[in-house]
Amino acid sequence: APNPSFAPTLTNWYSRHKRSLPWRDTKNPYFIWLSEVILQQTRVAQGLPYYERFVAAYPTVHDLAAAPQDEVLRLWQGLGYYSRARNMHHTAQLVVEKHGGRFPDKYEELLKLKGVGSYTAAAIAAFAFQERVAVLDGNVFRVLARVFGITEDIAAPASRKVFQKLADELVPAQEPDTYNQAIMEFGAIQCTPLMPDCMFCPLQQSCFAFNHGMVQELPVKSKA
Ligand code: ADE
Repeated sequence: APNPSFAPTLTNWYSRHKRSLPWRDTKNPYFIWLSEVILQQTRVAQGLPYYERFVAAYPTVHDLAAAPQDEVLRLWQGLGYYSRARNMHHTAQLVVEKHGGRFPDKYEELLKLKGVGSYTAAAIAAFAFQERVAVLDGNVFRVLARVFGITEDIAAPASRKVFQKLADELVPAQEPDTYNQAIMEFGAIQCTPLMPDCMFCPLQQSCFAFNHGMVQELPVKSKA
């Protein structure tokens, strides 16, 4: 079984280091979905103003569903990947028409929505509905690869299973939402790709990469 202090160490670190971000102060699945679609392609600093503009223009999924598509695409301008905006608009309409304006509250149901992949489904399920599911992004892959010494290529589709299994086991039953935000934030701020802050890391003693001088070697990633 994985180190039982892993999750509490991260949530403790998170309580002291987290950035205050608007989508972290809400359990509204629509806001969380919006933020995650925007942040899939953009850094937090660039994504924030887009998030604020969307929330102001469309405070509910009903407002987004009823908006003309060209207006939605105009608000999206600068973010790129316009298919994401179109999928979002389409899914907002489906949520209104088929689900009475309420997002499905289970990972497996969320996955069925157009444009909602495993990452976004996990984020909505965990952050909005406290489902015990691991949210896996690049930050999380990096933290897990280093701390647990996983040498599987993170760019290889087959590695996903290895990471997902370990990641799911690590999610605590209590506050899975806070834990998932914590490990993502830890990867974004502390366990960074190039210059991780190992000297002031609360996981230093138990970190495989640190103990084996492999911080620069992990995660293994074949493609650029
Ligand atoms: N990037 C993607 N999702 C995020 C989140 N929930 N908080 C901060 N950065 C993120």
